[in-house]
Amino acid sequence: MARRHQHNVLVIGSGAAGLSLALRLPANCRVALLTKADLNQGSTFWAQGGMAAVLHNRDTIDSHVADTLAAGAGLCHRDAVEFTVSNSRRCVEWLVEQGVDFDLREAPRNRPGKEFHLTMEGGHSHRRIIHAADRTGRAISEVLTDRVIAAANIEVFTHRVAVDLVVNNGRCEGAYILDEQSGHVDLFQASSVVLATGGASKAYLYTSNPDGASGDGIAMAWRAGCRVANLEFNQFHPTCLYHPKAKSFLITEAIRGEGGRLLLPDGTPFMQNFDERGELAPRDVVARAIDHEMKRLGADCVFLDISHKSPEFINSHFPTVMARCLELGIDISAEAIPVVPAAHYTCGGILVDNHGLTDVAGLYAVGESSCTGLHGANRMASNSLLECIVYAESAAHHIADNLGQIPTPTGAAPWDESQVTDSDEDVVISHNWDELRRFMWDYVGIVRTNKRLRRALHRVQLLQAEIAEYYGNYKVSNDLLELRNLAMVAELMIQCAISRKESRGLHYTLDYPELLPVAEDTILVPDNSPL
Ligand code: FAD
Ligand code: SIN
Repeated sequence: MARRHQHNVLVIGSGAAGLSLALRLPANCRVALLTKADLNQGSTFWAQGGMAAVLHNRDTIDSHVADTLAAGAGLCHRDAVEFTVSNSRRCVEWLVEQGVDFDLREAPRNRPGKEFHLTMEGGHSHRRIIHAADRTGRAISEVLTDRVIAAANIEVFTHRVAVDLVVNNGRCEGAYILDEQSGHVDLFQASSVVLATGGASKAYLYTSNPDGASGDGIAMAWRAGCRVANLEFNQFHPTCLYHPKAKSFLITEAIRGEGGRLLLPDGTPFMQNFDERGELAPRDVVARAIDHEMKRLGADCVFLDISHKSPEFINSHFPTVMARCLELGIDISAEAIPVVPAAHYTCGGILVDNHGLTDVAGLYAVGESSCTGLHGANRMASNSLLECIVYAESAAHHIADNLGQIPTPTGAAPWDESQVTDSDEDVVISHNWDELRRFMWDYVGIVRTNKRLRRALHRVQLLQAEIAEYYGNYKVSNDLLELRNLAMVAELMIQCAISRKESRGLHYTLDYPELLPVAEDTILVPDNSPL
């Protein structure tokens, strides 16, 4: 039987954004934190390189801000960048207080004791990436998860899939949630609701992301009346492992930060031909250069070589990458790693202010599902974990400050499943998943044209009509919900890409190769927008 739950705050998602937001709420606030998988299965757990923060004595907030603005190709919002960067040190301190063990090194001679080991990544002009070897996401995720489980005011629900938000009189009052075990859709009611559901890189055939990255929060917010922005900026990570048995395995950019070189199949370095920063140019530049060389040579992949470093160095800095490659027969201390670009990060998302507040009262979005203005047209490496932690704190404060004024809602109707039956044709779902991800890869990839985008739009609209019919007739399942959301977000991505008549950052089109003089966000407004 479907159930009804009541809390002060409903947090949907258990990555860095959702976990830290739940922990930042006051102890007298009753929180439901739910995730569609186990607690540690979002992108956060897989983050390798680290988190950017101004910690080195020669680094400055101005320098981190300037690098972020440059990587974002003129589209970052300066206030969001300054807000994020100036909170970076405090957020690192908070993570350390929670128990996260970042890597340390002996301080130089003139300073006593140890200090954080900071690594380099593309676009950064200083060493400023704090990390736990190459498993930083895991270190953060495990510590925050333990804290959440121990918190008396937080009730955790796993394998619960948010289907849609409940909006009454312009205010978000909860969500309908599929309990995968019972098969029923429950009603969760709360005074404030937080979407911390991550990105949508599963829209692409090849991606570094885990399976759940299907843009659920972005699609739910759009259906609820929120504006979305800048969804044409899909970041392709330049280096994912190219191996038939290696689904979604990332080769961290920190390898290039520590001197790794990109090579053509014949062993020739090539990045200097594209950008004077070479391997440490921002991601959009490196991914496009690799794509260009692979297409020019008809090559299946290029290679990343760190074998000039000692095995001890490689093993202490990159144990995860080393072990995974060894399992597949590649000894990275002796040979170059075959790599290809893959969809990695959704720079756009649900439009929010500096408190993570969306257009719908009572509804917040944090982390990769949101668009804060920090990333502009291209996210700088390791700025996203930082964004999760910074905005989770400011959203938690805003929620706590307003909570006393909002009664816990009670009125919404339960989910109606009287008109639907069990599906007898699941093949429709798997077929449409494959079709969607393939045409997004082929037509809405690293290099775009008007013709390809229009073709993709036509295809995605046909798919959406088919999915809507299926959705109306059959009981919901996680696969169906993800497909429905992914198709919707894919359409929003294509609409954004079609409306940008220039090439900027991650959006590169052969039809408009130039940069327009004025940088403008692409903002899509739903028909039911409250504005
Ligand atoms: P996620 O961590 O993705 O969590 C999303 C959560 O929402 C999950 O718990 C999921 O189950 C839940 N969810 C989604 N939909 C629903 C639904 N319908 N119902 C219920 N629950 C739902 N960034 C950096 O800054 N530094 C790095 O080194 C770095 N390395 C990366 C390496 C990899 C391989 C990947 C994939 C990403 C990396 N990133 C890195 C990006 C960064 O990890 C993510 O942007 C960030 O972790 C996103 O956190 P999040 O909390 O927004 O979402
Ligand atoms: C990486 O380790 O290369 C990922 C860093 C990021 O996505 O920010």
